[in-house]
Amino acid sequence: MPDSPRDTAHDSRPARTRAGGELFTEERSAEVVAASFARTPDPRLEQVITSLVRHLHAFVKDVELTEEEWGAAITFLTRTGQMSDDVRQEFILLSDVLGVSMLVETINHRTGGTSTESTVLGPFHMVESPPRELGENIALDGKGEPCLVTGRVTGPDGEPLAGALVDVWQANDDGFYDVQQPGVQPERNLRGLFTADGDGRFWFRSIVPRHYPIPDDGPVGELLAATARHPNRPAHVHFIVTAPGHRPVTTHLFVAGDPYIDSDAVFGVKESLIRDFPVVDDPARAVEVGLPNPFRTVHFDVTLLRADQAPPAAQPADVQPTVVHGAPGGRVS
Ligand code: BEZ
Ligand code: FE
Repeated sequence: MPDSPRDTAHDSRPARTRAGGELFTEERSAEVVAASFARTPDPRLEQVITSLVRHLHAFVKDVELTEEEWGAAITFLTRTGQMSDDVRQEFILLSDVLGVSMLVETINHRTGGTSTESTVLGPFHMVESPPRELGENIALDGKGEPCLVTGRVTGPDGEPLAGALVDVWQANDDGFYDVQQPGVQPERNLRGLFTADGDGRFWFRSIVPRHYPIPDDGPVGELLAATARHPNRPAHVHFIVTAPGHRPVTTHLFVAGDPYIDSDAVFGVKESLIRDFPVVDDPARAVEVGLPNPFRTVHFDVTLLRADQAPPAAQPADVQPTVVHGAPGGRVS
């Protein structure tokens, strides 16, 4: 005996018109949602969005996300957006501390060990570096330990890249960039755009950089605190090096022995970018370079790939786990 009209042989529910469709279930959630994007005209967008859906669903199932946690995540992301404006990009900072910025950077600038490795741009290249003469001092605030920075820009076969542009910026001895302290630091303090000489060489005076914290007064700082992570970046000088006909590189020079060299808050350190900053105690040389004696030195050569060189393929260890399509729950292998 049917207990409701719907249980009769003459079911009044509308016939389902599912174009190959399938209703949402916990087991098949990823496949059902991924299939909803099947008519995306741009094949790359379809690939990206369906992969994102599969990984997101696998993550939610992996941790069995509670409704409270999901709500907290939405609030966190909302606040991350609200914190962002023209000068503060909290979403990039989130990407930085999750290692995503470095992964995207590294995937897109593989060197195969043949050229200078890249690292994150960071948020403080927001003003143009002032063109400066080789040898000029970029430390305009008179703070910090004087240092002579030298290097040479070459192509992949060691050929000098005369006229290469070497754009540098760094934090001051208090751990702040000029743009973080308008009115406190001189404008364009510790920034310079140098043109390499006929032999690809560059040199300038500066200070030994010191470590500093990334901006941690927002949601990303709260995440670091809640997970017992520190916000510090090891001491570094930023570089963007460009030369006609060559691939530009965005990179850093790191100070060997820095206390945070193995725990950069944004994972930017690569072994090949770490250098010693030895002391030079030589009054005559100090006069020659225009620094007080003794002073520190560092040498940083930069090798650029030719623009027409094919980027090296991913190393096997770089290959990310793939989702096995069609497996229940979108199994990750
Ligand atoms: C920086 O090195 O300037 C930086 C990089 C990523 C996040 C915050 C700061
Ligand atoms: Fe920096």
